[in-house]
Amino acid sequence: AAENGLHAWLRYAPLPQGHNPPLPLSIIALSSSTNSPVNTAGQELQKGIQGIFGKQLSVFNTGKETSSAVVGTVSQFQKAFGSSPVKDKLEEDGFWLNVKGSTVQILGQNERGALYGAFEYLSMLAQGNFSNVEYATNPAAPVRWINSWDNMDGSITRGFGGNSIFFADGHVVSNLTRASEYARLLSSIRINAAVVNDVNANFTTINPENIQGVGRIADVFRPYGIQLGLSLDFASPMELGNLSTYDPLDPGVIVFWDDITKQIYDRIPDFAGYLVKADSEGTPGPLVYNRTLADGANLFAKAIKPFGGIVMYRAFVYNLLNESDWTADRANAAVDYFQPLDGQFDDNVIVQIKYGPIDFQVREPASPLFANLLETNTAIELQVAQEYLGQQCHLVYLPPLWRTILDFDLRVQNQSTFVRNVITGERFERPLGGSAAVVNVGLNDTWLGSHLAMSNLYAYGRLAWDWTSDSEEILQDWTRLTFGLDQTVIDTITQMSMASWPAYENYSGNLGEQTLNDILYTHFGPNPQTLDNTPWGQWTRADHTSIGMDRTVSNGTGFSGQYPPEVAEMYENLDTTPDNLLLWFHHVNYSQKLQSGKTVIQHFYDAHYEGAETAQNFVTMWQSLQGKIDDERFEDVLFRQVFQAGHSIVWRDAIVNFYNNISGIPDDAGRVGHH
Ligand code: GCU
Repeated sequence: AAENGLHAWLRYAPLPQGHNPPLPLSIIALSSSTNSPVNTAGQELQKGIQGIFGKQLSVFNTGKETSSAVVGTVSQFQKAFGSSPVKDKLEEDGFWLNVKGSTVQILGQNERGALYGAFEYLSMLAQGNFSNVEYATNPAAPVRWINSWDNMDGSITRGFGGNSIFFADGHVVSNLTRASEYARLLSSIRINAAVVNDVNANFTTINPENIQGVGRIADVFRPYGIQLGLSLDFASPMELGNLSTYDPLDPGVIVFWDDITKQIYDRIPDFAGYLVKADSEGTPGPLVYNRTLADGANLFAKAIKPFGGIVMYRAFVYNLLNESDWTADRANAAVDYFQPLDGQFDDNVIVQIKYGPIDFQVREPASPLFANLLETNTAIELQVAQEYLGQQCHLVYLPPLWRTILDFDLRVQNQSTFVRNVITGERFERPLGGSAAVVNVGLNDTWLGSHLAMSNLYAYGRLAWDWTSDSEEILQDWTRLTFGLDQTVIDTITQMSMASWPAYENYSGNLGEQTLNDILYTHFGPNPQTLDNTPWGQWTRADHTSIGMDRTVSNGTGFSGQYPPEVAEMYENLDTTPDNLLLWFHHVNYSQKLQSGKTVIQHFYDAHYEGAETAQNFVTMWQSLQGKIDDERFEDVLFRQVFQAGHSIVWRDAIVNFYNNISGIPDDAGRVGHH
């Protein structure tokens, strides 16, 4: 039964009676070498058709095309059958799928693309979709990565699904079965690389023993077309190399990184690249030596360039601040640090930018850095791990949040500039770009700690391929693959999931005030007291009469001025700032009227009651599915929904009482405080 969790959306469960489509009589995989994704594709097709239809097909390397499923690259196909049937242009990792009854062509631009195509065909079959199709599809961007915040001791930073599947006690674990199963899941959603260690990296990850160890991880990833990446500790030249400095311009430091990079590529010839968190939250970096962040990034870029690797350099750099300074603002940091360096990063560097200017909050505006790097490759960083969003104990389906950011038009030079078109490289004609999601799966049988949370991982892959994909359609595909074709199950999970982000926002932090979690340690549960009077800069500036961060140019921190003029003007003015970001941009009285007509404080009260009520309903909605899905997953999810229902009331009461106490303003509906 653990299998239901482990196989997630790749269960290949038998379809109900009456599904008898024309199927291929055999499989032809045009490569049989063990590490080849095309070979994997052949095995996967065999396994899938066996699971879904109970039919055992043989896998050959050659044969007659008619009534076969042929999988391979376009050039392998040409070699075997003469000419290419592909009618559209295929880009790297793209594929062509042509289903004509029992004759199926699955052709990748490369082997990885062929494997993606096989998963796509199987996904159709598993969902009972037997249409004839003929199309080519290409990724929105070349970088579709996963970041794992796993530590060498086996713990995971912000991991909510058990310990690491990669590391324990300072080493790479010997049994990498789970790592291999993870790679299978990732390749089915077209992820092409995974960084396996935490951004707060430890130099021991790249010692000689562990390079061999991570080499074994790369070996189990390879048949699935997943490349390995590593986070680096900037101070490694001192800690591991016994140098007296880690200055990025020091010749000894340069030799150190050249040598490490060579050692890595000797063991892992298809190594994807480095991820670097430097000068951030106490990590060492180039600023220590008065070098620029570009000097830091280019150090690695030059070392890795000869091998074709890339450097993901994180924009999450900020300083501790003094709240008594009305103009101090952590949200300003990324643009302040990075905009002056635009054009100075090597062409194999990508600046990896969290979706909002602070830190994965329930509501943030799109990071203005996306509008300030016109000559630099960029990627967006999302978080599947629900660090501030209920930590997998709350159902929060994230694609609607992500789409809000990716579909935001930054209006650079008064022209359409959707975030999604910036990060793909399209808008500013950059050669590289894409996305990374912090996922943090663990040894738990459900991977993330919750069956329903897996829809976020599935959706991340689907969106990274095509940012315009519909959140609800993705969810329904995931639901069919995970729980079967029962329409009530699909409708119920759709309703719950689509209501879940708005509900969580309602009972946590409203109007752009951030999530209001405990921000000092756990990032879990309500604790609005912890946001102010700290140097962390996640302030609300709530006092007895007023609340919100004044981020205007005219009177505040100047943050709104980091956006291009049309957007800056919208946020600068109270009247044109959308309600859901009001307190992000403005400091107002609790009695300030919103566009909705309510006051700020009444909105707090109403939203919290509404959000908690929605979470209560999730329990009854889920209960209605008893008997329609297996008991084990039914009970597991029910347990979590009951917790969420209770915790949403804890949230509601903590927040409404806090603001009722501080403001002294009663609730119009008489629910809050003493009367
Ligand atoms: C968050 C998180 C940290 C993490 C950091 C980062 O602040 O709580 O654990 O290291 O983000 O993204 O670097």
